[in-house]
Amino acid sequence: MDKGTFNEKYVDDKIVLTELETAKKVALKIEEIYGADRPKYYINTLGCQQNEADSERIAGLCELMGYEYTDDPTSAKLIFVNTCAIREHAEIRAISVIGEYKHIKDEDPSVVIGVGGCMVTQGHRADKIKRGMPYVNFVFDTGAIYKIPELVQNALSGGKRRFETENDFKIAENIPAVRRDAHKAWLSIMYGCNNFCSYCIVPYVRGRERSRKSDDILKEAKLLIEGGAKDITLLGQNVNSYGKDTGEGVDFADLMRKICRIDGDFRLRFMTSHPKDASDKLIEAMAEEDKIAKHFHLPVQSGSDGILKRMNRHYDVEKYLSIIDKLKSSVKDVSITSDIIVAFPGETEDDFEKTLDLLKYVRYDAVFSFIYSPRVGTPAAKMDGAVPKEVSRERFARLMDVVNPISLERNGRFLGKTLRVLAEEPCKNVEGLLTGRADSPRPIHFPAGADVIGKFVDVKITKAETFSMNGEIIK
Ligand code: 5AD
Ligand code: SF4
Repeated sequence: MDKGTFNEKYVDDKIVLTELETAKKVALKIEEIYGADRPKYYINTLGCQQNEADSERIAGLCELMGYEYTDDPTSAKLIFVNTCAIREHAEIRAISVIGEYKHIKDEDPSVVIGVGGCMVTQGHRADKIKRGMPYVNFVFDTGAIYKIPELVQNALSGGKRRFETENDFKIAENIPAVRRDAHKAWLSIMYGCNNFCSYCIVPYVRGRERSRKSDDILKEAKLLIEGGAKDITLLGQNVNSYGKDTGEGVDFADLMRKICRIDGDFRLRFMTSHPKDASDKLIEAMAEEDKIAKHFHLPVQSGSDGILKRMNRHYDVEKYLSIIDKLKSSVKDVSITSDIIVAFPGETEDDFEKTLDLLKYVRYDAVFSFIYSPRVGTPAAKMDGAVPKEVSRERFARLMDVVNPISLERNGRFLGKTLRVLAEEPCKNVEGLLTGRADSPRPIHFPAGADVIGKFVDVKITKAETFSMNGEIIK
């Protein structure tokens, strides 16, 4: 797959328009079959925020086709599974979730099942569905979401099973999105990845990096803010390289500043950053712009230069720590988080200890750690030096022993302080509490009524734990 010119990165507007027309035709057909009692759609989204954002587009198309949302798959006539492939565990889960829906279809053969996302983009997985899961009506890769109306139309009229996995990854603008929470929004600014970290499946299943035009992003951001969005997360596999392919001369820091200029009371976040592209300019934007949350997720993956090289990360520990030092000195009270892979092929005890040293130096607010999982087709899957399972598990536990007390200490710095918190949702564990977040990604629980959801409130932190905090609203 080569880079192509900018315009080739787009699905032709006319093609998207035809699909949207097809969706309306499906809506007529649905009405013919079901009358006023609209049939339901259900989407099971696995994996990352990018998948969540994709599912919002899938939901938008479902509603255009006349379906109504349900969170109960057994009452749905149209079921989607949006799969993930980042680690083996995610794929096992996806396969088991798809299997669960077979029973629903056994009961009611008119149910239509579509499977999308990163897992099905891999030929061997699509083949497995083709041969072993005949109850799945259609499969679509992450570049084929815009084709859903046609795929559903075909399934409803008894057409052959379809497999849209030609990996023709482009940007399709103007697909409607349905967001469950008006106050929180994902906003994709780019798709795909060019980095080919040696362990990672993403570049193979989401294609090459392509950025949306800044005007399209600004238009969407404005609509979201006018619609009440208070917490917007800009999404991309590597947001720091935003704009390299647009020819507009607008890089990620410029884009953030432009969004901050939109009127309204909102907080801007972003995910994910690659350290090799994290610029001083971006750190300055974070330091200067009040609307940018003071949180930087900067995955390091390992604290050993040798392992970073084998991972094809294009930075060393010294370079990474220089970014961290700059961040800490420029952005007051910044929360920093990271991803770590434990037991990458060839990781020695000495390499692992270097990772622990790095964690103790940086003192992250939160670390998301994963045991290395070989992915078919990636260079790391062919590397020597597999770390035995017992050693991986032991290292993972030791990592937690270092990371968790630091998280507790980092959350403790807010004790007695008042933070500006967006009340997001009812607390999942304790009735009468709401859960929200300040700049730091850690959830904060506090007593309040549902009328506060979607509003910023001042919360005084009264308790700090490893993974969350508690507080009280200050009048
Ligand atoms: N095995 C384990 N962890 C992985 N990640 C990506 N690929 C793998 C893999 N093959 C982790 C990285 C990345 C996060 C999203 O998932 O830490 O930053
Ligand atoms: Fe995967 Fe590396 Fe791209 Fe992140 S930057 S999606 S880890 S290849």
